[in-house]
Amino acid sequence: MTRRLIPASTVLGAVLVLACAHAGFVPQPTVLDVERVQPVDPGLSLEELQAGRAAYVQRCSSCHPVHGPGEYRGDQWPGLLARMQREKKIKIPEHERVLIERYLVAFSSTAPKLAAAGVVGQEPVGSVHPSASR
Ligand code: HEC
Repeated sequence: MTRRLIPASTVLGAVLVLACAHAGFVPQPTVLDVERVQPVDPGLSLEELQAGRAAYVQRCSSCHPVHGPGEYRGDQWPGLLARMQREKKIKIPEHERVLIERYLVAFSSTAPKLAAAGVVGQEPVGSVHPSASR
């Protein structure tokens, strides 16, 4: 009897997780992201963001699905990267590691949102992210 309730709540739970946590969501950078991150990472280019994403997916997806950059704060990513390299013996050229780190920080939960980059409007629909307000 109560079994009938499980699928509905499971589906709702999954939808909420996808909507709120962006688990495993690895966004493609755009020119808007380049503008958005200038205050915290001046000079970071679209090419560098794209290269960082590519290197991230290539280097970090062999053992587990890649974690969405938005799952962690910007100040957590450098330590996570370092720990993975150290404990899992992952060899990444330094210039690539830097690109990966800049990409992850640019899309972390604490990265500047579009509104902070001077885009008209206080809270553009879609950028409201409960876990980012910490
Ligand atoms: C050789 C296998 C391997 C590779 C490659 C790998 N990881 Fe991991 N990762 C693991 C394992 C195993 C765990 C599970 C928990 C642990 O050991 O910390 C993990 C957990 C994680 C976590 C969760 C952290 C936590 O505290 O639970 C993050 C984030 C992460 N990895 C990021 C990365 C990044 C970024 C890269 C690319 C530099 C990467 N991983 C590449 C094996 C790997």
